Amino acid sequence: MILDILKFPDPVLRTPALPVEAITGETAELIENMLETMYAAPGIGLAAPQVGVSRRIIVLDLDHENRGANVIKLVNPVIRETEGEAIFEEGCLSVVDFTAEVKRAERVAMSAYDENGEEVDIEADGLLAVALQHEIDHLDGKLFIDRISRLKRDIYVRRLKKSIRTGKEPQESRGVVI
Ligand code: NI
Repeated sequence: MILDILKFPDPVLRTPALPVEAITGETAELIENMLETMYAAPGIGLAAPQVGVSRRIIVLDLDHENRGANVIKLVNPVIRETEGEAIFEEGCLSVVDFTAEVKRAERVAMSAYDENGEEVDIEADGLLAVALQHEIDHLDGKLFIDRISRLKRDIYVRRLKKSIRTGKEPQESRGVVI
């Protein structure tokens, strides 16, 4: 089932998500719906708060040409280690019509659980490391626009308000939509 994706400035996107206490069939169903929603959007990652569920669950798939072959489903992910610095042009399914360069760690090591409750460890660099950090930010109630200069953020917020007022359709984003 394709779910509605909440858009900035929805307050759920600003609320830190709670850990999942028991991984059940309901969790697995939510994960499947999140994947379907992510592919339809399309985006390479989605966090549960973006579909209105304030729980620590994320899904990612960087390879839309072979959907599902390299899918990542994580419950209660925790970053154990980071290294280096990298700048990437990011967009977000919840931040319409805007991309910006964001500085993050270049490599991350993470622990989490999969949809069956098995522990998983992930080490990532490049775009996957960026996407994982972007999604974990969503779980902490943060958006990529919180990691850019105030000036750039204010320009975006003003433009967004204007487009809502005039009813103008947003344009396609240029960067990677996470
Ligand atoms: Ni996002």
